[in-house]
Amino acid sequence: MGTIGSIQYRWFWQLAAKKRMLAAVGAAFVEGMGTMKTAWIAMWLALLAGMPGAQAQTYPNRTVTIIVPFAPGGPADITGRIVADIFSRHLGQQFVVENVGGAGGTLGSLRAAKATPDGYTIISGHMGTHAAAPFFYPNLGYDPEKDFEPIGLIAEQPELLAVRKDIPANNLKEFIAWAKANESKLNMGHAGVGSVSYVGCLLLNAAIGIKPTMVPFTGTAPVMNAILAGQIDYDCDPVLGPLSHVRAGTVKALAIATKKRSPLLPDVPTSYEQGLPQFDCAPFYALFAPKGTPQAVIDRLAEALDKGLSEPAVQKRLSDLGAEIAEPNRRGPKALAELVHSEVARLGPILKAATAK
Ligand code: MLT
Repeated sequence: MGTIGSIQYRWFWQLAAKKRMLAAVGAAFVEGMGTMKTAWIAMWLALLAGMPGAQAQTYPNRTVTIIVPFAPGGPADITGRIVADIFSRHLGQQFVVENVGGAGGTLGSLRAAKATPDGYTIISGHMGTHAAAPFFYPNLGYDPEKDFEPIGLIAEQPELLAVRKDIPANNLKEFIAWAKANESKLNMGHAGVGSVSYVGCLLLNAAIGIKPTMVPFTGTAPVMNAILAGQIDYDCDPVLGPLSHVRAGTVKALAIATKKRSPLLPDVPTSYEQGLPQFDCAPFYALFAPKGTPQAVIDRLAEALDKGLSEPAVQKRLSDLGAEIAEPNRRGPKALAELVHSEVARLGPILKAATAK
C-alpha cells in the first residue's frame, strides 16, 4: 500500500472509530438521560413529599409527642393528657405525653422550641412557660412569641391558696397573721421559677409582705405530696391540683385567686372577697408547636382541639377538675397569639412590682 493508500486506510479506521465512539456516547447519553430522568422524577417526588402541603395531607402518620414541661399528676400533665386523648381520637394516631420537667417548665419548652417543626413534637404550655418566663430568665433560649406557632387555648385554671392542714388558719386574714408571725420558718412550694404556682404565690407574698423560703419542685403534684407530708406549708396551684385533697380534708383551701368562687369549692371565698385583689391568678393552658410547623398541620390540630373541647364529655371532665374551657372564639391559633402577646405585656409590670417588694 502506497503512502496515500495507507493515509486513506488510517483515515477510514479513525473515522469508523470516531463514529463508534459517537454512537457509544450517544447511546450512553440516551441511556443516561433515561436514568437522569428517573433520578429527577424521584428527586421531585421526594421534595414534594417533604413539602408542607403533602405532609399535611398525610399528617399524622406516626406517633406525636406532646411535651408537658412539668411532673406527672399536676394540672399541666392532666390537661395535656386530656388533649392527647382528644387528638388520638380525632386524628387517628397515638398522641403521647412526655414529661420534661425542670426550671419552671422552661427546659421542656426549650426542647419543644428546638424540635423539628413537622408537627410530631408539640407542647402543652401555659401562662408561665409562654408569657411569664422571659421576665425571670434573661437568657431563656426561646421567645414564646417568635419561636412557637400557637395551636389553641385549652382552658383557664383559677389558682387556689392551699395550706398544710395543721396550720392554725381558716381564712386569708388568719393565714396572713400566722405567716407573718412564722415568716423565718415559712416554706412555700412551687413548680420552679416562672411556673404559674411560682407566679401566683409571688403575687400573694408581695401583697401580704412576706418572704418565705421558696422550695422548687418539678411540678405541683410533688409540691402537694410535700404539703401532705408536712414538709411544705403552702402553695398556689390551679384548683385541679389540690382539689381531691381539699375534698378529703387533708389540705386546707383558703382563697380562690379570682373574682368568682369555684363551683367545685363554693365555700372557699375569693381573694377579692377577702380584701386581697392583688392575689389574682387564673393562668391559661394552651398548645404550641415549634416555629415553622406547616400551617396546614397547625390547622388540623386546631380543628381537632376545637372539636374535642366542644364534646360534652370533655367539657364535663375539664370543668370537674376546675378548668374553665375557652369559648370557641378564643380557642384558635390567632386568638392564642393575641392572648400570649397581651399576657406578656400585662405580666411584665405586675411581676416587676411584685419582685421589687
Ligand atoms: C403543674 O402542672 O405542675 C403546674 O401547672 C406547674 C406550674 O405551677 O406552673
